[in-house]
Parts: sequence; structure tokens; C-alpha cells
Amino acid sequence: MTVATQTYNDRVVRQFALMTVVWGVVGMLVGTLLAAQLLWPALNFDIPWLTFSRLRPLHTNAVIFAFGGSALFASSYYIVQRTCHVRLFSDRLASFTFWGWQLIILLAAISLPLGLTSSKEYAELEWPIDVLIAIVWVVYGIVFFGTIMQRRIQHIYVANWFFAAYIITIAVLHIVNSAAIPVTWTKSYSLYAGTVDAMVQWWYGHNAVGFFLTAGFLGMMYYFVPKQAGRPVYSYRLSVVHFWALISIYMWAGPHHLHYTSLPDWAQSLGMVFSLMLIAPSWGGMINGIMTLSGAWGKLRTDPILKFLIVSLSFYGMSTFEGPMMSIRTVNALSHYTDWTIGHVHSGALGWVAMVSIGSMYILIPRLYGRKEMFSTKAIDLHFWVMTIGIVLYVAAMWIAGVMQGLMWRATNADGTLTYSFVESLNSTYPFYAIRLLGGVLIMVGMVIMVWNVYRTVAQRAQVVDVAIPPPAAQAA
Ligand code: HEM
Ligand code: HEM
Repeated sequence: MTVATQTYNDRVVRQFALMTVVWGVVGMLVGTLLAAQLLWPALNFDIPWLTFSRLRPLHTNAVIFAFGGSALFASSYYIVQRTCHVRLFSDRLASFTFWGWQLIILLAAISLPLGLTSSKEYAELEWPIDVLIAIVWVVYGIVFFGTIMQRRIQHIYVANWFFAAYIITIAVLHIVNSAAIPVTWTKSYSLYAGTVDAMVQWWYGHNAVGFFLTAGFLGMMYYFVPKQAGRPVYSYRLSVVHFWALISIYMWAGPHHLHYTSLPDWAQSLGMVFSLMLIAPSWGGMINGIMTLSGAWGKLRTDPILKFLIVSLSFYGMSTFEGPMMSIRTVNALSHYTDWTIGHVHSGALGWVAMVSIGSMYILIPRLYGRKEMFSTKAIDLHFWVMTIGIVLYVAAMWIAGVMQGLMWRATNADGTLTYSFVESLNSTYPFYAIRLLGGVLIMVGMVIMVWNVYRTVAQRAQVVDVAIPPPAAQAA
């Protein structure tokens, strides 16, 4: 056996982990600029590339696919090796996924501000980039499943099941939803038309939430929460039930994005019912994660990384209760088009996705650089508090603004005329936009603290050597 096969491939994990921090800063900075633009529209400086409509998809792509994606690549590559006791299937292919993914992000960062878009939300990139995404993703699948097939531990740990589902499903969703007829290098038309196009788009959109923003991060959670708590998963049986229930129900919930549209009523009701059923597996997962700490709650007092992980699970529980409520048609009649949706999005995206990713990176980065822990634990604690306060300000402001907007838009006078004009509702929203901006700035302060802490950790590293794979005797023990 060569030396190369006796160690884990941590190089690609290090690369993705550092880019998680970089893209986190960039994506959230653009989000903060957007929040400021909604308060002061002049902040687009009359430059087309800086208009809200072009920066918004830049923000969503940067935070979901660049920041979230890098965190998922890093953690899935790390976890699959550690739980299978084997090096990644191919160093070259793994390296290809890193550089390919960064190239995609760069192309997105250029093409979106230029206004090149397919106009499908969360799938805005034009067809040549879509082709590149499909290639990189298939290679990612080969690296991941190749590693699983070569494993030296017979049992496949539950985190890998979640990663497997996310990799397969994202490939299917991306390829089906991006099917288009190209007319030039920068313009294409969807293969689908009318209501079918909308249905396919939201089948994709909702499952992007379910599989990219949820299943992958649950894989991360199932590895790092027990690791950091120093205890086994609360119920392994529940984690398996959680897995199968979650992936089979998520697929059908997409139509809740299309209530009161030309989509047939039965399809809307189907989406609503499946969304309501989703509470059960979602909460099963949340309870399983949080209860992993049972008997060791005291650790929460001293370990800020655990705080990140447990609070992320609480936000996960909150957003997966709220989502099913919003999918009830009569509730959606109020929430749709309002900032309530934006509040829901960010309680999931910032509270759950960003917090679990940041907590996991704080565990991963020192280990990848030959250190026991991050340079400063106090700085992690400070990051935790400013970020938590920032998210609560953001989400609460949007909830209040959203419900207020919904109620103002539907208020009528005795003679049937509208009580408020749209501009009046916008005026009433401004104070909440200011609170959201304050939340965003606090979250950015947290990210700057993280950058400093990561820099100090990496700069003070011991000699970086890839970790050795335990010999077979140790594996049996
Ligand atoms: C500093 C942190 C952040 C700030 C200040 C911020 C701000 C914003 C703003 C102002 C919008 C546009 C809202 C509108 O159109 O009315 C937005 C949209 C969005 N953001 Fe963020 N964001 C942040 C972090 C994140 C993160 C970490 C994620 C995901 C992991 C995320 C995901 C999204 C999504 C998916 C949308 C589109 C929502 C929709 O279409 O309903 N954001 N964000
Ligand atoms: C049981 C779980 C969930 C259900 C049933 C659910 C349901 C919903 C509903 C009904 C909407 C509003 C659709 C509309 O009026 O247009 C929505 C929007 C959204 N949700 Fe969730 N949600 C869930 C969990 C989550 C989580 C955990 C996240 C993030 C990590 C998330 C991200 C989003 C995003 C990004 C949107 C905005 C989509 C758009 O651009 O219009 N959701 N969700």
C-alpha cells in the first residue's frame, strides 16, 4: 500500500472549508447591501450591475451554492472518509470538483450582475454554466459513491445516507429543471411552457430547499453534533426513520409555492397536505439532534460551538413548523408576496443552514490544520452572540412587517374600496427594513470575527500533514 492510500485526502477538505468562509463573507455582504438598498434605493448608484434585481440572484446564488455548497463539499468529503476509513475514491476527481465549483461561482458572479439570467429562481444561470454544473455534480457523485463502495467499515453511517440522497436528488432536479433550448451562448428558453414550467420550477425550487438546504446539512448535523457533544446520536433508529420519511415526503410539497395560480386545485391541495406531513420527520430530526445532548446539557455553558449547533437545530425546528403553516392555503393568502416569506427563508437559511455550517467549520478547520481547537474560543462565543442577535432582529422584523403588509393589503372600507394604498404599506415597512439592516450588519460583524479567528488558526498551524487512516486492527476495536 502506498503512503497516499494510508492517509485521508484532507487537502480538498481544507480548500472547500476555507472557501466556505470566503463565500460566506461575500454572499452575506451582498445580502447586507440588498437590505440597505431596500431602505435607500439610491445605493445602486444608477449603475446597472448594482441594481437590486441583479444583485438579488447574486446573493442567493452566493449564499446557497457558494457558501452552503462549499460547506457541504467540505463536510461530505471529510465525513465519508472518516466514517468509511478510506481515502477519497480519486484525488484528481476530487480536485476537479473543487476547481470546477469555484469556476462556476466565478461565472455566476460575472454573468448575474451583467443581467444574464434564465429567470428561474435559484436556477438563474444560463445554459453553458448549467452544463458545467451537471458535469461537476456527476463527478462529485462518482467521488462520493466511489468512496462508499471502497469503504472498510461495513456499516454506512446515517450522515452518508443524507449526503447520498442530496447528491442524487440535486443531480436529477438540476438536469430536469434546467432543460432548455439554447438560442445563443447567453440565452436559452425553457423546454417547458406555462403552468408546466412553473410546476417543474417549484418542484425543483422546493426540493432545492429540501435536499440542498436541508438533507445535506442534516448529514453535517448527524456527524458533528454527536462528535462535539461526545455522545452517540440520541436514537439511531429515529435517524433512519427520519431519513426515509423526509426524503419520501419532500418530493411532493412543491405546489405550495403555487397556491391560487392556474395550477389545478388538486395539485395545490396535494402540496399542502404533504407540507403538513413534513412536520413529523423534520421535528423527529430536530429532537434527535437536540436530545443527543441529554445528560450533557452543562456543555452548552462552556462550549460555544455546541451553542451554534443546538441553536441551529432550534431554528430548523422553528422554520419547519412555520413552513407547513404557510403552506395552508388560507394562511398563504396572507403571507405570499409579503416579507413574512423573507423572514421564513432567513430563519431557515441563516438560523439553520448558516449556523450549522459555521459551527461545523469551527470544528473542522483546526483539525485540518493540525490544531486541537480554534485560536480563540472567546471569539467563537462573541460570534455566536452577535450572529444570534442579528438573526433574531432580522427574522422578527420580517415577521412583523410581513403580517402587517398582508393585513394592510386586504383591509377594505365599508364601501369596498381599499383602506390603504400600496405606498402606505411600504412606508410602514421602512422601520422594519432598518431593523433588518441592523441585523445584517451584526451578522457581518460576526463573519469578520470568524475571518480573524480562522486566519489566526491557520497562520499558527503546526506542520500540516494529512491524517493517517486507522489500521484495520484499530478499526475492528
Ligand atoms: C447578513 C446576512 C444576510 C442578509 C442581510 C440577507 C439579506 C437578504 C435580502 C435583503 C434579501 C432580499 C429580500 C427581498 O427581496 O425582499 C434576501 C433574499 C434571500 N436570501 Fe438573504 N441575507 C443574508 C443571508 C442569507 C443566507 C446565509 C442565506 C442562505 C443560506 C440567504 C438566502 C436568501 C434567499 C434564498 C433569498 C430569496 C428569498 C425569496 O425569494 O423569498 N440569505 N436576503
Ligand atoms: C417542513 C419544512 C418546510 C415547509 C413545508 C416550507 C414551506 C414553505 C412555504 C409554504 C413557503 C412560501 C411559498 C410562497 O408563498 O411562495 C416557503 C418559502 C420558502 N422556504 Fe420554506 N418551508 C419549509 C422549510 C424551509 C427551510 C428549512 C428552509 C431553508 C433552509 C426554507 C426555505 C424557503 C425559501 C428559500 C422560500 C422562498 C421561496 C421563494 O423564493 O419564493 N424552507 N416555504
